[in-house]
Order: sequence, then C-alpha cells, then structure tokens
Amino acid sequence: MASANSPLAGRHVLLGITGSIAAYKAAMLCRLLKTAGADVQVVMTPLAKQFITPLTMATLSKHPILVEFFDPENGAWNSHVSLGEWADCMLIAPATANTLAKMATGVADNLLLTTYLSARCPVAVAPAMDLDMYAHAATQQNLRTLASRGVRIIEPGEGELASGLSGKGRMAEPETIAAFVGGLFDKRQTLAGKRMIVTAGATIEAIDPVRFISNHSSGKMGYAIAGELAARGAAVTLISGRTALPTPEGVERVDVLSAAEMYETTVAAFDRADGAVMCAAVADYTPSEVSETKLKKGDGELTITLRRTRDIAAELGARKGNRVLVGFALETHDEEANAESKLERKHFDFIVLNSLRDAGAGFRGDTNKVTFIDRAGHEELPLLSKREVAARIADRIEKIMNRSATAAQAAASGEPGQ
Ligand code: PMT
Repeated sequence: MASANSPLAGRHVLLGITGSIAAYKAAMLCRLLKTAGADVQVVMTPLAKQFITPLTMATLSKHPILVEFFDPENGAWNSHVSLGEWADCMLIAPATANTLAKMATGVADNLLLTTYLSARCPVAVAPAMDLDMYAHAATQQNLRTLASRGVRIIEPGEGELASGLSGKGRMAEPETIAAFVGGLFDKRQTLAGKRMIVTAGATIEAIDPVRFISNHSSGKMGYAIAGELAARGAAVTLISGRTALPTPEGVERVDVLSAAEMYETTVAAFDRADGAVMCAAVADYTPSEVSETKLKKGDGELTITLRRTRDIAAELGARKGNRVLVGFALETHDEEANAESKLERKHFDFIVLNSLRDAGAGFRGDTNKVTFIDRAGHEELPLLSKREVAARIADRIEKIMNRSATAAQAAASGEPGQ
C-alpha cells in the first residue's frame, strides 16, 4: 500500500515502452511505480511487444495496453490527445535510438509518438542501446535537442550490454528511474504551517424540491489547487459545491450546496486562515422563493424571480488584512478589463483569468489556459493541465507569502523591506 506522502500517490504516469531488450525491466519499473501509488497506463510501440508481452504489462499496470491507433476488432479509437491530457508525466523507458530520433524530429508514426507530441506534462526518457549507438553524434544531438525542449534524460549506466560489449548505454535501473519520476513531483513542504481555504465546484440554487439553477463547473480546477497546496504542506480546507471528484490526499473537505451555504462556511473558515483561493463557480442569483412543492406546469410562461446572492470573495476581500486572496475570473468577452475590475473590487492579490473563448480552457476538461493578473501586470500561460496551472498558482502564493514575511521581519528590525 502506497504511503500518502509518496510523491507518486495518485499521479497518472504514462509509461511508454519501445523495442529494446531492456523492455524486460519495464515490468519491474511498472511495479515500482504502482507500489508508490501511481496510476500507470502503458503505451507500447509495435516492436516492443516482441520484447515483453502486453499480457505481462496489462497485468502489472491493471489497464489494457495501448499499441495501435485503433482496435482492429471493434474500431475503438485510442485518443493520443486524451492520453496526453490524462498524464501527469510521460516516461519512455526503455527509449531506443530510433524513438529518440523520431521524438527529436517530430515523426508521428505510432501511438506512443503521437501521444508524446500531444503531451503537455513533463516527459522523461531512459535511453537504452548499444554503446556505439549511444555515443553516435546523431543520438547525442537528438538527446540535446530533446533536453533543450524540456525532456528529462535519465542517464544510462555503464556495464555489460546485450551485444556482449561493455560500455555506456544500459538503461538505468528501475529503482533509479522510479525515484527520478517521483522526484518530478516531490514538493518541498514550502507551505507547512499555513492554513488555506479553496472553494471549488458549482453551487446549486433550488427552485423547488426537484429543480435547481447551477453551472458547468466540475470542480477539477479547484480540486487540483487544493491537492497542490496540501502537497506543499498547507492545511487545506476545501469548500466544495457538488462534484463527482474524490477528495485530494491530505485535504479536509466540506460539502455545501447553495451560494448562501458556501458564503457562511467560507467566511467562518477565513478567520483562521492564512489565505484563500476562490475557484468555485458561485451563483450570482438565486430564486427569491423556493417552492416547497414541485412547480406544476401550466399553459403559459413561468416567471421565476431571482435575487442577488452575497459575494463571498468580496466579503473576504473586505476582511483580508495581510492574508493572501486569489480570485478567478471566468469570462466570455472583454476578458482583461472584466478581470482587472474584479481584482480591484474584491481586493485579490492576483486573479486567474480563464476565457471560454480559448479552446481547452474553463469548465470540465483536464486543461486550462489562464492569465495571471495583478497590479504589476499580466502573465499569460500556455495551455496546461489543470494540475500544472495549480502548481503555478501555488508558486505565486508562496512568493507573496515569502515577500510578506520578509517585509514583516524588516519592519520588526527597523530595516527597509525589499
Ligand atoms: O470546475 P472546473 O470544471 O474545473 O472549471 C473551472 C472554472 C472554470 C469553474 C474555474 O477555472 C473558474 O473560473 N472559477 C470561477 C468562476 C466564476 O464564478 O467566476 P466569476 O468571474 O463569476 O467570479 C469572480 C470571482 O468571485 C471568482 O473567484 C468566484 O469564485 C468569486 N465569487 C463569485 C460570486 C460569488 N457570489 N461569490 C464569489 O466568491
């Protein structure tokens, strides 16, 4: 059973296996990743099946193995884009000289390579080949190209090779590779001792016992933020509207339904908090009256009168003091002007703007495209997984908290702050 403190606990690892004799070590590698708590999906090149059987890898990973673009039996499509979005990390082990060359040049002639080209997560490769192939200028150039694009290279070891020769080219040992991948997620406990609130998901405003007004929020963005802050050591209270998501590791979750309930719970929790991230999609209006019985349909139109809900973020902004307050702005037009206005009105330290005009941004998906806006300017990020966006938000929160701590120390010692 994996420890909750394992950096791989709950992480999605896409394990790519290519056609090398070192593929036999992928079985042990898969086992180590699973034992550390990762969910492992294996993608093999067609040649890799000659070195290790799909049955072995499917049994160890507990998922069917993916090799082809579609299943010839029933035509089911294996979406490389969805795989790339699902993954928190793509690890290709073993990675042959052939696959490395194709990755470096953008060749996309098998599922593993198209998935690599679609992946938005960190990618690591563990090269495995004969010593002369590894030392060849072409392979070395390909590795440099990949490294310059952010691919992590797990150095091969020296020793006896399948050819009988001895030298550098042996795939790193599974223990080394698993530790390397864990290190990609191993967060320092930079927020230890901090209490954070995160609101997430959609609120539900009852019309009658049967019907309600709500929105499309799945909670994924807010849950990713709660998980990220907890992974960095913060004590996180996640105040959640209705979602179908599991509670992130180490997070205290409080379920609420309506905007009014979310208001009461969040405002009460804020007293003891060092900061809050307001990611929930909260109803701005709620029915003025909730019918106690099911509204019956008539022939004519039905009018439901709505009244304003209280703005939770604005209330926290008014009581903020030196706490960190992060808001979201979900816009469909005049994005930056609307977000800047919310930044000021609600006294956020910064606001995370996502626009429904950007593909892959906003509700439900596993990705988001956001711009951070504060009083110093704008930072536009590329399309990233929601987990990665959460990490960038946590980085900013850390910076703000460190700045405040430095300023407080400087004030206490009579020195001018930075
Ligand atoms: O949950 P997902 O499917 O992953 O989708 C993520 C998301 C699109 C919901 C998320 O990224 C997002 O944008 N959340 C904020 C949505 C929203 O309500 O934005 P807004 O522009 O209407 O509100 C501005 C800010 O005020 C937000 O921080 C909001 O949480 C807060 N607010 C709004 C109204 C209210 N009554 N109380 C609030 O606290």
